[in-house]
Amino acid sequence: MANMAGSMSVFSEGVTLPKSVQEMSMNGDEPPPEFYVKDSSFGCLDSSDLSASVNPVPVIDVSQLLSSNDELEKLKLALNSSGCFQAIGHGISSSFIDKVREVAKTFFGLPQEEKHKYSRAVNEVEGYGHDLVVSEKQVLDWNTRLFLRVFPQHQRKLNLWPQNPDDFREVLHEYSTKLKQMMDLLFKAMAKSLNIEENSFSDQFGDNPVMQVRFNFYPPCSKPDKVLGVKPHSDRSGMTVLLQDEEVEGLQIIKDGKWITVPVIPHALVVNLGDQMQIMSNGIFKSPVHRVVTNTDKLRISVAMFNEAEPDKEIGPVESLIDENRPRLYRNVKNYASFNYECFQKGKVALEEVKV
Ligand code: OGA
Ligand code: NI
Repeated sequence: MANMAGSMSVFSEGVTLPKSVQEMSMNGDEPPPEFYVKDSSFGCLDSSDLSASVNPVPVIDVSQLLSSNDELEKLKLALNSSGCFQAIGHGISSSFIDKVREVAKTFFGLPQEEKHKYSRAVNEVEGYGHDLVVSEKQVLDWNTRLFLRVFPQHQRKLNLWPQNPDDFREVLHEYSTKLKQMMDLLFKAMAKSLNIEENSFSDQFGDNPVMQVRFNFYPPCSKPDKVLGVKPHSDRSGMTVLLQDEEVEGLQIIKDGKWITVPVIPHALVVNLGDQMQIMSNGIFKSPVHRVVTNTDKLRISVAMFNEAEPDKEIGPVESLIDENRPRLYRNVKNYASFNYECFQKGKVALEEVKV
């Protein structure tokens, strides 16, 4: 569930399921009922109403943002409506994008014993594994993931960074550095699109913003009508950049009350905002509710990079975005990540809880 649960062993506290999602998938086992989705406050599983609208997720050329007002306007519209777009012209070469996919694929393809060297410890967030189970009623996600903090650099837990394949660490370091640059540019462009001071958003992230990566592995699932790869959620981050699988779709966002599939554009990066940016923009920019659907015959791998404010730094709506026509929607908040997690445990929606 979002980045909030991180990467956890499912099978701790209370719930005992002997096999991993990957093992169940390979054995052709039916998913156990713990994985069956019920209606939630975020909407149900039904996707019969998929919107047929053309180009549901706009494509934006990042290289044009600081020079073209049209592109900037497109960015503003996208973030104000769905909170999501596909970034091209991001300056990361196709061959490097392929490399990121390749190290992820190689890692997930390793024997279980090898991957377990990087397992998440009980009550920890980082490492390889499944959902953290916080209640017996919790519906489980059909995926396995590797969750790691990449910035601030001195906080890296390198013992959990795979050494197999042998270029995994180097590729992850380079990828994170490049995405950080792109995110910084996007925060500036977003401020510019609203005619506010360029650093209005980036300043709120502090000197040591946190960046975390989640490598997601979704094996085929025999019950795609009942089981989700990731349940509906909004990200607790400021911004999330997702590298989708090069072929297999799965990500859906809610737009105008309907689930729409984010199409695969092989070397584009999907950008979606998280709750922290909805708060900072005083609700002008949206943190979209999204989910991942499963399918019966193809495995899917994605890489999500999350950026969030330094935990001790208070975030809140930018002053210049508050006026009589648009009163303050959210109170200031520190450490939104843990707050979000506490809300999740109580079955509450964090963004609702920070409304004034
Ligand atoms: C996430 C997420 C989408 C995907 O990790 O928060 O929404 O396509 N992932 O894997
Ligand atoms: Ni997400």
